[in-house]
Amino acid sequence: MTSPFLAACRGEEPDRVPVWFMRQAGRSLPEYREARAGTTMLEACRTPELVAEITMQPVRRYGTDAAIFFSDIVVPLAAIGVDIEIVPGVGPVVAEPFRTEADADRLRNLDPCDVGYVTEAIGLLVKELGETPLIGFAGAPFTLASYLIEGGPSRDYAKTKALMRSRPDVWHSIASKLAAICGEFLRVQVEAGASAVQLFDSWAGALSEADYRRFALPHSTAALMGVADSVPRIHFGVGTGHLLEAMAETGAEVIGVDFRIPLDQAAARLPGKTLQGNLDPTAILADDEPLIAETDEVLQAGRAARGHIFNLGHGVLPDSDPAKLKLVVDRVHEATRR
Ligand code: CP3
Repeated sequence: MTSPFLAACRGEEPDRVPVWFMRQAGRSLPEYREARAGTTMLEACRTPELVAEITMQPVRRYGTDAAIFFSDIVVPLAAIGVDIEIVPGVGPVVAEPFRTEADADRLRNLDPCDVGYVTEAIGLLVKELGETPLIGFAGAPFTLASYLIEGGPSRDYAKTKALMRSRPDVWHSIASKLAAICGEFLRVQVEAGASAVQLFDSWAGALSEADYRRFALPHSTAALMGVADSVPRIHFGVGTGHLLEAMAETGAEVIGVDFRIPLDQAAARLPGKTLQGNLDPTAILADDEPLIAETDEVLQAGRAARGHIFNLGHGVLPDSDPAKLKLVVDRVHEATRR
């Protein structure tokens, strides 16, 4: 049987609408919290057996149509020696933020040997997953650069946007090096056995369309080029309703849509693209009846697209009840089985 996920990516007719969830592996699962106890996030990402176990947990529990590799977008940056830490309750924090051309020189290209633990973990996973595809991923240059330049999570991306305007040369130098790193990181995952990739430009919604086109699009396009013609490519961002057409110009076969735009509207704007999304992650926290009703609405709107991969509009929230996610997976499968 062809994987429903891969069929939908390619615009073929799957046996059912495929479903997986961003952040399906991780903080919402009790078995994850148990497996991770006593290990920092970056240490966990460098331990192949643990990565494989955590990646498998939601596939076993929910029967999702794809696995997402358990890692973080900053793993390749830490792997080339950037002094970056994942601080619990905060997120990625950079010891010496990037501001100058000399800082851009701190970014060297990624060598597959830098992330041997990724290759090893994916090797374990493809054996265990069998027919279920594994999605590899990377952070897009803009989203990664925002951590390097701000020094950590940000609300307004003020330093990043100021650097773009005042020193476009430095910006493009940092972003093009990040694009090479992302492209290589995606390639490593595909060569190890990932069947698709997702490029997370989570914070691109902070940019106007004009700025996105000038400062982010060329670099995301370059990153995705690294795996063109090998596997389907998904491109996702949050609050990117105004950027969908521009994001599609990266060449990604699948566009991830957040919950702010109904899928039928996105489909009208993106003919020829498979869409992924877009149940509001907070719907998982609601009672069963509104949850099922909203799941059905997303399925209905998704019928307007060339292909639909059911997902949330952003990652699973930490307080989500796994039983509710299972309810959604079963509903999507039962309502769409052909
Ligand atoms: O499940 C967990 O949150 C625990 C493990 C963890 C991850 N990232 C998993 C992850 C932790 C502690 C982090 C740190 C981190 N990295 C944070 C703060 C923690 C948090 O709750 O979000 C942030 C903001 C980052 C940066 C980051 N990582 C971004 C912006 C993205 C893109 C996806 C998104 O949420 O917008 C990631 C990817 C990521 N982090 C994945 C995982 C398992 C892969 C994608 C996925 O599973 O969908």
